[in-house]
Amino acid sequence: MTIFHDAFPSSELEDNTSKSIILAGKNILICNAGGEFYAVNNICTHQHAELEGGRIRNCFISCPLHGVRFNLETGKPMGQLTNIPLPTYPLEITEEGMIRVGLSV
Ligand code: FES
Repeated sequence: MTIFHDAFPSSELEDNTSKSIILAGKNILICNAGGEFYAVNNICTHQHAELEGGRIRNCFISCPLHGVRFNLETGKPMGQLTNIPLPTYPLEITEEGMIRVGLSV
């Protein structure tokens, strides 16, 4: 079962930036990639660096530590350092502009 949790208003996140939040005990990263919003796990699957603040281009985020790029939609990594995908989560934005993230229980 998936339960949606309120994160923060989408107006708080500028284009091509990211912001982390703990929801239901999980470290979630919300990204605004050119106006498209995505929710992924904030921990890189290579060596556990936080992805917050990583460069966002199109629908990819680059890990600040060694630069692995992850597809924000699918979680798929590019390159040789890791082949473990990043967990991704369903995201919705309410009519009032609140970002909500779906987490399974
Ligand atoms: S820890 Fe993210 S690429 Fe190495």
